Amino acid sequence: MTQSRTQSWDPARYQANAGFVPVLGKPVVELATPRTGERVLDLGCGDGVLTEEIVSLGCSVTGVDASPEQIAAARARGLNAEVMDGQELPFDAAFDLVLSNAALHWMKDQDAVIDGVWRALKPGGRFACEMGGGDNVGAIRRAVHSALNSRGLDPVTADPWVFPSDEEQRRRLEARGFHVESIALIDRPTPLPGDIEGWLWTFCESFLMLAPEAERQGIIDSVRLDLEPLLKDDSGVWVADYVRLRFLAVKPA
Ligand code: BEZ
Repeated sequence: MTQSRTQSWDPARYQANAGFVPVLGKPVVELATPRTGERVLDLGCGDGVLTEEIVSLGCSVTGVDASPEQIAAARARGLNAEVMDGQELPFDAAFDLVLSNAALHWMKDQDAVIDGVWRALKPGGRFACEMGGGDNVGAIRRAVHSALNSRGLDPVTADPWVFPSDEEQRRRLEARGFHVESIALIDRPTPLPGDIEGWLWTFCESFLMLAPEAERQGIIDSVRLDLEPLLKDDSGVWVADYVRLRFLAVKPA
């Protein structure tokens, strides 16, 4: 799920604050159309909730993720899963399908990821991906940057995310030789299961680590205050400003 050295993944915290991530990953599975008997790489498999679903379709699935904690959780489900940096995939013509949900935006070197996926696929293989794109979590990101800037901290180098536009990602994929069947940015306002504080502790650790521990709660509180008029609806539900980039690309046979 993550490539950042300063972001950690506690499976229990992830389940509580981001359990919706694999649930909302169904559209990318539908786009990928996994078929019985296919060999599938789940790139950034996290705790394996979505991986399990692909296994249930009769595919032979390998999950990879940079987080040892998440891989331990995936293995506890009985899945075939390996700790691996998505920017250094070692596979060679091994898969019919590479599927990735909510993971690529943590990988700074998108060209290295796309190169590795290209090599991992058999000729005719498919790459189906959903990731953050465009102005994904733009209000949240701006509020976090502003809170850090106002404390004399530089959020830019700590920012762990890459959210490409559709045109930018299409260019990257085509430059590597992929045929892009579809690619689109999709606004997907996402109701959170609890207070935005839980989301911030779960996803913004790289930013928070810039500050001394004693100041982190104060940063969260000021971000929360900034975002309340923008992202908390009339019934008190926090709705994160997610924008997804969803694409299907094929390696020509
Ligand atoms: C996302 O899944 O879009 C996302 C994950 C972490 C931070 C921001 C966005």
